[in-house]
Formats: sequence, structure tokens, C-alpha cells
Amino acid sequence: MMSYLSSLVWCFLILVVSVATVRIHGQPSTEDFISIDCGLADGHSYVDELTKIPYTSDAQFIEAGTNYNISRDYLSSSLPEHQRSLRSFPTGERNCYALKSLVQGQKYLLRATFMYGNYDGQNSAREDKPIQFDLHIGVNLWKSMKIVDASTVTPTEAITVALADYISVCLINKQSGTPFISSLELRPLKTSIYPAANASISLVLLKRFNMGPTDGLIRYPDDGHDRIWKPFDYSSALKEISTNLTVHSHPDDLFEAPSAVLQTALTPVNGLVLRLGWDPKREDILPECHIIMQFAEIQSLGPNDSRTFDIYLNGDPFFDTYLPIYQISDSVYTTVPYTEYEYNISLKATKNSTLPPIINGLEIYKAMHLPELSTDSRDVDAIMAIQMEYPVQKNWAGDPCVPRAYAWEGLNCSYIVSVPPRIKTLNLSSSRLSGAISSSFSKLKAIETLDLSYNNLTGTIPGFLADISSLQLLNLRGNQLTGPVPADLLRKSEEGSLILRIDGPNPCINESTCGTACNNNNKKKITTPIIMIISIGVVVLLVVVLIVWITRRRQQDFAMDSSVRRPCEDRTERNVDCKDHQLKLESRQFTYKDLENITNKFVRIIGQGGFGIVYHGFLENGVQVAVKLCSQSSSQGTKEFLAEAQSLTRVHHKNLVTFVGYCKDENYLALIYDYMSQGSLRDHLRGKADLGRILSWGERLQIAVEAAQGLEYLHKGCTPPIIHRDVKTSNILLGEGLVAKIADFGLSKSLLSDSHTHVSTEMVVGTPGYVDPEYHNSYQLNEKSDVYSFGVVLLELITGHPPITPGPGKAYIVQRVASKLARGNIEDAMDARLKGEYDANSVWKIVDLAMKCTAQFSTQRPTMSDVVIQLKESLALEAARERSESLHSEGLDVSPNAAFELDRNKLMSVGPSAR
Ligand SMILES: *[C@@H]1O[C@H](CO)[C@@H](O)[C@H](O)[C@H]1NC(C)=O
Ligand SMILES: *[C@@H]1O[C@H](CO)[C@@H](O)[C@H](O)[C@H]1NC(C)=O
Ligand SMILES: *[C@@H]1O[C@H](CO)[C@@H](O)[C@H](O)[C@H]1NC(C)=O
Ligand SMILES: *[C@@H]1O[C@H](CO)[C@@H](O)[C@H](O)[C@H]1NC(C)=O
Ligand SMILES: *[C@@H]1O[C@H](CO)[C@@H](O)[C@H](O)[C@H]1NC(C)=O
Ligand SMILES: *[C@@H]1O[C@H](CO)[C@@H](O)[C@H](O)[C@H]1NC(C)=O
Ligand SMILES: *[C@@H]1O[C@H](CO)[C@@H](O)[C@H](O)[C@H]1NC(C)=O
Repeated sequence: MMSYLSSLVWCFLILVVSVATVRIHGQPSTEDFISIDCGLADGHSYVDELTKIPYTSDAQFIEAGTNYNISRDYLSSSLPEHQRSLRSFPTGERNCYALKSLVQGQKYLLRATFMYGNYDGQNSAREDKPIQFDLHIGVNLWKSMKIVDASTVTPTEAITVALADYISVCLINKQSGTPFISSLELRPLKTSIYPAANASISLVLLKRFNMGPTDGLIRYPDDGHDRIWKPFDYSSALKEISTNLTVHSHPDDLFEAPSAVLQTALTPVNGLVLRLGWDPKREDILPECHIIMQFAEIQSLGPNDSRTFDIYLNGDPFFDTYLPIYQISDSVYTTVPYTEYEYNISLKATKNSTLPPIINGLEIYKAMHLPELSTDSRDVDAIMAIQMEYPVQKNWAGDPCVPRAYAWEGLNCSYIVSVPPRIKTLNLSSSRLSGAISSSFSKLKAIETLDLSYNNLTGTIPGFLADISSLQLLNLRGNQLTGPVPADLLRKSEEGSLILRIDGPNPCINESTCGTACNNNNKKKITTPIIMIISIGVVVLLVVVLIVWITRRRQQDFAMDSSVRRPCEDRTERNVDCKDHQLKLESRQFTYKDLENITNKFVRIIGQGGFGIVYHGFLENGVQVAVKLCSQSSSQGTKEFLAEAQSLTRVHHKNLVTFVGYCKDENYLALIYDYMSQGSLRDHLRGKADLGRILSWGERLQIAVEAAQGLEYLHKGCTPPIIHRDVKTSNILLGEGLVAKIADFGLSKSLLSDSHTHVSTEMVVGTPGYVDPEYHNSYQLNEKSDVYSFGVVLLELITGHPPITPGPGKAYIVQRVASKLARGNIEDAMDARLKGEYDANSVWKIVDLAMKCTAQFSTQRPTMSDVVIQLKESLALEAARERSESLHSEGLDVSPNAAFELDRNKLMSVGPSAR
């Protein structure tokens, strides 16, 4: 619990040492102090008269805010210079001072002061008109400031460990008066002192008393760390004792209280008990307090004298038989925090003690946990360097990614529990950047999207951009860049690992990169030869020019997105292998002419998907098919189109839409599937299907089981697993007998390798309302993202409502259902059209399952295999109910086959495995 340094050996040792060395520590240096007089005009500085500490203007630490002097009415000769001016922040939610060039891991004392002094003539800072704002150290709350007095200096102090080589101090506007600050001071501390403060806990000062004197503050130079010790306001039951002899610091002293503080002490006037208590401001002293009592014997005791005492905290024994050491500092302190609002300290002399107890100093700190991790320091360094190199006209202050609500404009970061956030996206489009592309960009080692388009960047495209292995999209459009594109960047772009955008006002950089688009599969065969041919010789060049000319012509004919260099193939799909692979029918390749025949010249449109239009058709053998034809303006490109084709040839399952074949000729791309006669689940839930009635609860469960099995197969039956990425009710199609099959693999992407549990993708794909929030925030995709989307599908089955309802309020289905559940009313959440015809237990099970699937963190969600099991159990409950219902309704006895056609409810009554 506490340390007690009583060894007399030390005592002698110290005396010997202090005699041998003239001074253990000389005048402490202010070299490493940072002392900022906020609001002082730029370039000004001065040395404080009292402390001799030099103060500087804050201009080099912050850009935002306005300088003010306090009103003349509040000036007094005793008011230190650094309290006379201030900086106020009428605009911006968060404004931060950056204290740089610190030592990472070093402990620092930070002190901010606030002196209103009616600087703005508004007569604020009154009890009825307080100024309130929050003060943060980095991303964590330091103190909620409430200034209610215009004439006093409000200080706040903390001991904190620098988590990087800088500390930012931020003022957060709470819309309750304009935040302002008068001074900011930083003092380095030894890492060993104040052991309760570490990288995850800072200490916020509540009280620091010099016991004995009734007036005067002690700070630098008496206290080498420039702590401010205030006199303790004591009752007449106590009195001061003091010495003129210096009190020495114990070499293991964990608090280094200055001699000036230890040379005075309080002791009872009468009796042998010393009691301390103080006005317990509830808002001030909050739970988790650390208490430090400083002691030193300052009286020379006679041979028959002794001073030992027991220490009680709030009436409980805290330390037994404490003996202060003569002229040596020592302390008794808490190592685990006390969680009380109020503190009474009693020091009671032990039985054989002839002298009353004493106390020389007292400190109380509140532990401040640092729950939020700051952004990865390498990313911080890089982005700060970028900020230095270009005049970025954005409110960039404090930590770039945290708190999330104050993340820098133009940045997107990954947020994963207990991992420092990384910068994933940097958008500096149209930000008036000029000059060369800085090498600092390449130091953002986790960045995936870098958008520098529409600036005035000049020079060549630097090769170091190719070193950013995580980079997936590089947009340099609309700049003044010249010269060749570095070979490595070109290679990455051709391999498909990087999307490169470099056209626009940029001068044509070289033939192989100008305005290329991969809207036909000859592209690669053309560009690669160009590079080779040029190096071979001039003769062949003519051929190249011809080819380029032809290519250009083609691009004009069917330009898709002429700025985007899309890879022609998605290589990640190549090695997918799924169970029952051999079962698949050989997929056919069709020509455009075939498609015309199949669809009767595209007369019947049955849908419009991300790729383009879906037509109805018949194969020669009369089998009905759906033909998805790529539209030229499709927002999804060739890459996805072929990705879908490739995954489809390898996956085969009864609950996945059967792939018949594809068409890939020069101008057209198409995918041909089995026709699903009953449309999508979405249409059924919206009442738009041909069925002519609403799906029963039993049917909904059966559909859910089947769809879940399809997804389970993608996740479990395929190696590497296939993540669908766009699970939604419109992608669950229903065939004859309402058999459910999962459709649209356009967004599937196999996991890259066995060592990875997730893959990052260039952008969040999926449909609003269904997208996993974790994926959305972190860009980390895994099977659990599909589980989330499937949970939303379940909620739609339960409620019959779409995932997002337009209008204000509880827009998202997850929150909507959760709030209804919180009120305990499941009936309220159910689709009213079901008219109460369902087994309540089965519904509860599904609601519970849906909520688990849509848990915020992917680790909390079940797997698709778990989901299938739960759904089947629920289906069994519902089937039992339907069975007992049908026993009660005589005369409706029909054969199972007829029921199949007429009313699937009756079929269900045979049992869940009927189909
Ligand atoms: C504050 O007062 C000083 C002189 O006392 C003056 O030089 C400075 O410009 C004033 N600052 C503001 C913001 O008015
Ligand atoms: C900080 O101290 C607390 C309490 O002693 C401890 O639980 C925590 O692990 C420490 N953190 C670090 C980063 O050392
Ligand atoms: C300390 O020194 C001052 C003058 O130097 C003297 O008046 C005072 O009595 C001394 N105090 C003690 C406790 O010796
Ligand atoms: C200390 O106590 C002893 C006996 O207990 C006595 O003889 C001596 O005189 C005392 N000395 C003082 C300075 O009181
Ligand atoms: C502290 O002491 C005061 C007076 O001695 C007493 O009224 C109060 O209850 C005490 N508080 C605690 C927490 O022990
Ligand atoms: C006083 O009593 C304590 C035990 O209560 C003992 O440890 C200590 O040595 C005694 N001191 C003197 C000076 O007798
Ligand atoms: C771009 O930079 C060039 C050269 O520095 C300058 O002449 C031109 O005015 C700039 N254009 C814009 C739009 O800033």
C-alpha cells in the first residue's frame, strides 16, 4: 500500500553525501520548460519578475483564435504578466495547442490558467452566466472548465506521460461561452516520480498544500518542477513549526517535494491528535483519488523524545507507527486510488510517543484514465509534415483521428479496438496545394486512398508513391504534373493493385497512360507492347501509332469512365475452390448474337442491377434465364463483372442462383443465370410480388434458413471463403415453390490468403442500411460483415419494414427494433400484416438472433453456421404451431402437392424438412 523510508542508514548516508558534494542539485534549469503567455503578440517574450522564468507568445503553437488583453478594471500589480492577456476561440469546435519537441514516454507537468477579466466586455464568467468548455490533453478529457469569477485566476494542472514527441492541449467549445486560455506551462518530470501516472493514467491535481505558513505561494525556483504549493487554511487547533535548515531529498524520493515546503509543518496546539479536513467540493473531488502526505522531522529531538504516529484515512487505519526522518524528505501515499468524495486525515501519536504528530505537505490527485488511443505516431508525424509543407486551409489541430467526432477534415481513419487508429484516406482534392509532391505522403504507411486531384502540383510523379504498399487509389487528376509515370506505379496499376487517375489538365504524360480505360479486354495487350516496342525501334513505332489510333477510336465509341484505369482481371479470385465443385455444370460462353436470340432482342426487362439491365430469356431447350447485360455507364466496372463470372463458375449450391454462362466479346459483357420466377424477397415484403398475399411467418423462416445456408456455403464451403458484401432482400431471389437463392456475386471478393483474417478493400461497398458499421468505419472486411447484413434481412422479415425509413428519428431498422425491444414489446415490432399468426417463442428467437447478428462489434456476432442452426430451431417451433393449427381446422385437407401450389403454409405443416 505505501512506502515508508525509515532507514537511519539512509539518513547518515545522505548527510555524508550532502557534505561531500557541495550541492546535490544546483539551481534547477528552466531550459526544458515551455512557458506560453497566451495572447501575447507574436514575437514577444519576457522573463517573469517573480520566478525568472522566460515566457513566450503562443503564436508559434497555435494558429486559430484571437488575442485580447483583460479589461483595465481587473489589472492589479499582483497579477502576473502572463495572466493579463489571453487567446479566445470564438470559432471552431476544437482548437489545440501543439507542444512539440518533447521526449516520448517522459512525464510532464502541464498547467493551464484562465483569467477572464472581462476581456470581451460581455461581463460573462458569473455564477448566472458561467463560461464552460472542456480542456483535453490529446484526445482525453482533462477537465471541464467552469469559469464563474472574472477576477480570479483559475488554474488546472495535470501530470501526464507524453505518448508521442508532442502533447496537444485542446479547448472544446461546449456552446456555453467562448473558450479562452491565459497561459500554458509544461515542466518535465523524472519518469520515476508520481508512479501512479503512466501511459494509461494521468493525474489531475485537486489539492496541493504547503503545511504551516498562512500566506505565500511556493513555486520555481524553490520547487525545481515549478509546482505551485498553496498555504493550507487551518484552524486554531493547529500551529506551524519550522526550521531554517534545509531538508534533503531522499534518493528514492518519489515526489521530490521542495525543501521550502518541508521546512514548515503543522502540529496540534494541544494534545496528540492532528486532524485535517477541508471543504469537500463534490464536483471537485471525484472518485479515484491519490493522496500523498509529505513528512520530514524538522525539530531536533532530545534523547528522551520520540515522535511516532498512526495515520487514519476517513477513520480507517492507513499507516501504523510512522516515524518522520530528521531533515530527510519522506512520504506516505496511496498506490491504489481511493474512491471517496471526502477525505479526513487523522494523525494520532502512538502510546510511547512523547511528541505530537506533524505533517509538512499534502497533495491529492484524481486519476484520469486515457481510454482513447491516439493515432499511430508515424501517421501523425507524416500528416503533420504534410501540414507544414503545404498551407492546408483546413481546421487541422490536435490528434488527426481521435476523438472520432473531431477527426481532421479530409481524413478517414481505421478504428479498431485497442489498436491506435491509422489514416486510411487522405482527401486533399481542390485544396490549392502547389509545388512538388512531398515525400511525406509516402510515410502514410497504411493509406489506401490518396486524392490530390485538382491542385496546382508541379514536377514529376515521384517514384516513392509506389512504395506505399497499402495504396489502392491514387488520384492526381487536374494538376500540372509532367514527365513519365514511374514504372513501379504503372506496373501496380496494370496488375490491378492500384487504381491510378492521372488525366485531366495534367499534360499528357506518356502514351501509355493518357486517358486509358479498361473497358475492353484488349487494353492490356495494347499498352504492354507499347512499352516494349518503343525500346525496340522506330520502325515498329508506326504500328504502335496505328494501334493507339485504333484504341482511341474504340474508347470514343464505348468510353465507360475514361479516367479510370481499371485492371482487366481480378486476380484475387483465381484460386477460389469450393466444395462440390465438380457438381457444377460447365458454364457456357455465349456470343452477343446468342444473347439476342435468347432474349428475343432484349424485349423483356425484369430488373436493373448495379451492372446494368437484366433481361428475361429462354435457352434453346426452353429453360428460362435472366441475362445481365453490362450497361456502358455502369458504375461497377469490368473488374467486378469478371469477378462475378469467375466466382460463379466455382460455386455451386442449391441456395445460390445457378450460373448458366457468360458473354464476353469485344463490346459486351453479360452474365446468364437461371430465372427465378418469384422475384426477390424485397418485392414480397413490399407487397409488390405476384404472389398476391403476404409471406407467412413460416415461409419467411424457411426463406431465411435457405438464404443463410447459401451464405454459410460461401463462407465455409469455399477456400478461401467468399464474402458476399451485398447481402440484402433484393439479392435473395425466390424460385418455384418460393425456394430462396442468393444472387449477385458482383461484389464477392475471396479472402486473400490463409494468414489473413480480413482483407481491406479500396472503398466501402454495399447498400446503405445493410453495411456493417465496423466495416464502414474500419474498411476491414470479413465474413461477419455478411452476418451483419443478414441480421438486417432478419429484421426486415420480422418487421416488414425497409432497413432505412425516410424522415427524421429512428431511421435505421437496428435502432428502431432495439428501442421497441427496450420497451419490452415484441408485438409492436412485428409486421402487423402477419395478424399475430406466429409462434411467439419462434419470433423471440429470431429477434434475439437478429440483434446478435447486428451487434456493433463483429466478434460479438455469430457465424453463419450458428445462424443456420438457430433459424432451424425457430422454424421447428413455428412448424409445430402450424401443425396444431391445421389439426384444428378440418376440411382443408389437401394433398401435399396441391398445397405446394396453393398454400405453402399447409406444406409447412408437414414439417420443416418437407422441402
Ligand atoms: C495588450 O496590451 C499591450 C500593451 O499593454 C499591447 O502592446 C498589445 O497590443 C495589447 N494586445 C491587444 C490584443 O490589444
Ligand atoms: C498504469 O497503472 C495502472 C495501475 O497501476 C495499471 O493497471 C496499468 O497497466 C498501467 N499502465 C501502463 C501502460 O503501464
Ligand atoms: C531562522 O532564521 C531567522 C533569521 O535568519 C530567525 O529570525 C529565525 O528565528 C530562525 N528560525 C529558526 C526556527 O531557527
Ligand atoms: C531521560 O530519561 C532518563 C531516565 O529515564 C533520565 O535519567 C534523564 O535525565 C532524561 N533526560 C532528559 C534530558 O530528560
Ligand atoms: C470527516 O470529519 C468530519 C468532522 O470530523 C465528520 O463530520 C465527517 O463525517 C468525516 N467524514 C468522513 C468521510 O469520515
Ligand atoms: C514505541 O512503541 C512501538 C510499538 O507500539 C515500538 O515499535 C517502538 O519501538 C516504540 N518506540 C520507543 C521509542 O520506545
Ligand atoms: C499554379 O502555379 C503556377 C506556378 O507557380 C502559377 O503561375 C499559377 O498561377 C498557379 N495556378 C493556380 C490556379 O494557382
